Amino acid sequence: MMDLMCIIALFALITAQCAPASPPNFVLLFADDLGYGDLGCFGHPSSLTPNLNRLAAQGLRFTDFYVTSPVCSPSRAALLTGRYQTRSGIYPGVFYPGSRGGLPLNETTIAEVLKSQGYTTAMVGKWHLGVGLNSTYLPTRQGFDKYLGIPYSHDQGPCQNLTCFPPDVKCFGLCDQGVVTVPLMFNEIIEQQPADFLQLEKTYSKFASQFINVAVQNKSPFFLYYPSHHTHYPQYAGADYAGKSPRGPFGDALMEFDGTVGQILKTLEETGVINNTLIFFTGDNGPELMRKSRGGNAGLMKCGKGTTYEGGMREPAIAYWPGLIQPGVTRALASSLDILPTFAKLAGAPLPKVQLDGVDMTDILFNKGPSQRQTIFYYPVDPSEKYSVFAVRWKNFKAHYYTRGAAHSESTPDNDCSLLSFFKHHDPPLLFNLEADPSENYNLDGTEWDPVRKEIQTIKEQFEASMVFGESEISKGIDSALEPCCTPSCTPKPQCCHCTSAL
Ligand SMILES: *[C@@H]1O[C@H](CO)[C@@H](O)[C@H](O)[C@H]1NC(C)=O
Ligand SMILES: *[C@@H]1O[C@H](CO)[C@@H](O)[C@H](O)[C@H]1NC(C)=O
Ligand SMILES: *[C@@H]1O[C@H](CO)[C@@H](O)[C@H](O)[C@H]1NC(C)=O
Ligand SMILES: *[C@@H]1O[C@H](CO)[C@@H](O)[C@H](O)[C@H]1NC(C)=O
Repeated sequence: MMDLMCIIALFALITAQCAPASPPNFVLLFADDLGYGDLGCFGHPSSLTPNLNRLAAQGLRFTDFYVTSPVCSPSRAALLTGRYQTRSGIYPGVFYPGSRGGLPLNETTIAEVLKSQGYTTAMVGKWHLGVGLNSTYLPTRQGFDKYLGIPYSHDQGPCQNLTCFPPDVKCFGLCDQGVVTVPLMFNEIIEQQPADFLQLEKTYSKFASQFINVAVQNKSPFFLYYPSHHTHYPQYAGADYAGKSPRGPFGDALMEFDGTVGQILKTLEETGVINNTLIFFTGDNGPELMRKSRGGNAGLMKCGKGTTYEGGMREPAIAYWPGLIQPGVTRALASSLDILPTFAKLAGAPLPKVQLDGVDMTDILFNKGPSQRQTIFYYPVDPSEKYSVFAVRWKNFKAHYYTRGAAHSESTPDNDCSLLSFFKHHDPPLLFNLEADPSENYNLDGTEWDPVRKEIQTIKEQFEASMVFGESEISKGIDSALEPCCTPSCTPKPQCCHCTSAL
């Protein structure tokens, strides 16, 4: 039950008639390639995620939460800007270590929005929105006071000689060949190359706790963004978690992520700010089913990463704020796009003066209110003005105009997920009732559904008319000279870029 003070504080927040005693802190937890069915609190029988389960039990669990892309970089761009990746130019596909482009600096990130209100900001983990010449696009240039992490996916560098589990179990597979090994960066300096996967999570966890401690000591409101490398391929875990999960390497990696979540919670409690902190958790895109039992699980959703089926873009999500968010489950429609407007509202920060695609979620969080959002648009990995969105959800209905399988979703028994399931145009669109049929099994092809198809068509046309594609940053291509190297003038690259830790 909420006590009276909480109700008063809540009222103040919602009506914005009077500012709360101190602006709230924000912790944004973001998993990598984690499926709808991967967490214990979303029904997985053998995942051990006690800390995320606790957030879910004592917070608000979303059943209908979406990201904007079935792959990493575009999904992250939309999360941090509240705008579709097509506007910021983060398409097609993802960034590489030597990519020339990055998230344009004139895009406003959540960190920049909060900095305008005096927040101290830090990011720990995976960036994947560009590095560029002389760190042009690193988090330190996009509103984060501090950054510690690998600036892209930890498989974007050869990993066959790297240790993923103690004492010296090599990483499974080869990862990307012909580029530098993955660097661990502090702000804009490479601290270690290759990053030591066995120590990585501990280093992250310590950095996160220190950041919170210092912010609290300085009486500064803070924003911590922790996009983990877990549970992306190749899975890894240090000594505390290796072999601890009944689910194998994926389970160990997930458990290590969950452990860091636990450490962050503990720090928030010990520093006395837990009751003034909103923690929001979700993931970047669906599971990489091609890794078979080493990959994630989309639960009852169809297909996974790389596809515009539910498994590719519907993610587990949890909002936690003791005293203010009542424990429960919400079926309100929500999106990673909505996080920026929600945090801005709670911090009393003005919204960036750009076309935003996100809406404020505070009514869902605090009032069990209806969502301001009635639609979800599903962009493929490679959006184009010609094909635009592949699918549209309106209320409980989803129409697929185009479908296509993906290599990332290979190896499930459902042939629609496979790479060999080539691009298909559906006219009329396939139509599913996601409330009655969340697995997208039963096409509503009867004429009685014509009014729904017509409504969705109108919504799609309006959306397309509002969409202005930004210049593609990823099509600017790759220059291997831009790959991060701890000894920039060494030869022969990429092998010579090798430095042990100063951390
Ligand atoms: C950023 O600059 C580019 C190039 O001038 C422009 O096309 C784009 O609209 C700008 N984006 C924003 C959010 O202002
Ligand atoms: C990039 O940094 C290097 C080393 O500090 C410097 O020599 C070079 O001029 C910089 N390039 C640009 C375009 O700023
Ligand atoms: C991995 O180790 C082998 C054996 O030492 C070596 O020949 C090979 O070049 C290494 N590969 C990479 C990518 O470091
Ligand atoms: C948070 O609020 C709860 C319930 O009012 C209270 O028991 C707890 O001591 C508070 N925690 C902190 C760190 O203030």
